[in-house]
Amino acid sequence: MINSDTTNIDYENPIEIAEGIYWVGFYDAKSGLHCNPYLIVDNEEAIVIDGGSRPDFATVMMKILQTGLEPHQINALLYQHYDPDLCGSIPNFEDIIESSSLRIISDESSLMFIRHYSASSQMVSIEDVNYHYKFSSGRTLQFIKTPYSHSSGSFVTFDQKSGMLFTSDIFGSYGTEWDLFLKLRPQCIDCVSLTKCPSNRENCPINDILNFHKIIMPSRKALKYALKKMLEVPFTAIAPQHGSIITDRNIMRYIFEQLISQKEVGIDRIIKDENSLNFSNLRERFNTDEH
Ligand SMILES: [Fe+2]
Ligand SMILES: [Fe+2]
Repeated sequence: MINSDTTNIDYENPIEIAEGIYWVGFYDAKSGLHCNPYLIVDNEEAIVIDGGSRPDFATVMMKILQTGLEPHQINALLYQHYDPDLCGSIPNFEDIIESSSLRIISDESSLMFIRHYSASSQMVSIEDVNYHYKFSSGRTLQFIKTPYSHSSGSFVTFDQKSGMLFTSDIFGSYGTEWDLFLKLRPQCIDCVSLTKCPSNRENCPINDILNFHKIIMPSRKALKYALKKMLEVPFTAIAPQHGSIITDRNIMRYIFEQLISQKEVGIDRIIKDENSLNFSNLRERFNTDEH
């Protein structure tokens, strides 16, 4: 059951977005890039998803403690890729949790980089746990690989109990207006005039999402593959690491359609025609024809 009731949201406190799932992020109305770390508490155990950057750590940890959890109850830190906006606070978490059984879970190729942040934790790859993380209660997180969206080892995480899909940078956004839950006016859903807002709004949250993907995702092929893999999962809500949580089926469907149809994503924005990369003078360049 997802709780998207936005009345009286207090961003100074952890926000329970579904049963046992808390948003524990840093809120700054002026920041364009909001990071969304999440905490899942299940009985006496907890896992932190994409814990956040070093400057945000004090706020994130304060909110974790406000849920009533004690640091040693955090069994695992899950990182859906290795960027500093997710992983920068790993040493801070290790210092405060102080447990030799703390596990850092990520894809094998991401762990290669994540180990440079960590001093003491056990590294566990999602391959090693057969793409599942199980709490003692049986509550299960499922990991789905989304390679190169945007990192080689990127994956998304599905909480079967709540229906929440944690998507890291996919469905992320960079924008100056931010709410924890994405709301669109009825006339904005299925809008096809994204370059010029028919309602003359200064900020278009859909454009913010599309622009983020065009810049952050390496290619159209990688993004489409990730979207395809996500659609195989029976999720009911999307919780990205940037931007807003999406719970409305129509909004989700509309954004999927828009992302799928983007032509210029990542390197495709820069190299429009691969044939323009001409290597006919390669031998000349190295003078190898003379030998
Ligand atoms: Fe990233
Ligand atoms: Fe990110």
